[in-house]
Amino acid sequence: MDLQLGFFASHRGSNVAAILTAIERGDLDAQPKILICNNPDAPVLSLAQRKNIPAYCLNQKNTEQLDDVTLALLRDHGVNLVVLAGYLQKVGPQIISAYSNRMINIHPALLPKYGGKGMYSLKVHEAVIKSEDTESGATVHLVTAEYDEGRILAQYKVPRYVRDTAETLAERVLGVEHVLYPQTLREIQRGIILLDE
Ligand code: GRF
Repeated sequence: MDLQLGFFASHRGSNVAAILTAIERGDLDAQPKILICNNPDAPVLSLAQRKNIPAYCLNQKNTEQLDDVTLALLRDHGVNLVVLAGYLQKVGPQIISAYSNRMINIHPALLPKYGGKGMYSLKVHEAVIKSEDTESGATVHLVTAEYDEGRILAQYKVPRYVRDTAETLAERVLGVEHVLYPQTLREIQRGIILLDE
C-alpha cells in the first residue's frame, strides 16, 4: 500500500519524529503529507516546521464543522492513512467513518488491557504498576469510535520490574514505541499487515 500519511499529535511528537527518521533513512517508504495538532504550544508543531510538513493547529471544541475542516485538509493533502501519535482529543465521527480501516493509533500498554477513556499518558503506567503484571508494552491498533478498541495490528512487550515507577516504565515503553510504529507502517506498506480483513 502506498502510504500518504496524515499525523495527528498534541504534544511532544517523539513518535512522529521516529517515523520521519525512518522515512529519511530509507527504512520506510512513505510520504508525510500533513500534521494536525490541537495544541498551539505543542513541540510537535516546531518539528513539522523543521521538516517542512504542512501543519495546522485546530483547537476548537469538537463540532461537525471542525470535522468538515479537518476532513477537507486531509483530502486536499491526499492523505490515505491517518496516524495518531499522542493525540489527546477524540477524533470526530465523520473522520473515523471516512478513514475507516485507514486510521491507526499507538497506545502505551498491551491492549486490550489498560485502554479506554481516561487511560492515557502516565495513568496507563500507574495502572500497570498497581497491578501484578510482569510485563507491559505498546500496541498499534485500528481506530474506531470506541477508545482503544479497534483491531490490534502489532504489539511489542517490555518487562516490568519490581523497582519500576510509572515514569521508568513509561520511558521503557516509549523506547519500543519508536521501533514499533515505523515497523508497523513498513509492514502495512509491504502488505504484510492488512488493514482490511
Ligand atoms: C505515547 O506514549 C503514545 O503511546 C501515546 O501518547 C504518547 C505520545 O508521545 N498515545 P509522543 O508525543 O509521540 O512523544
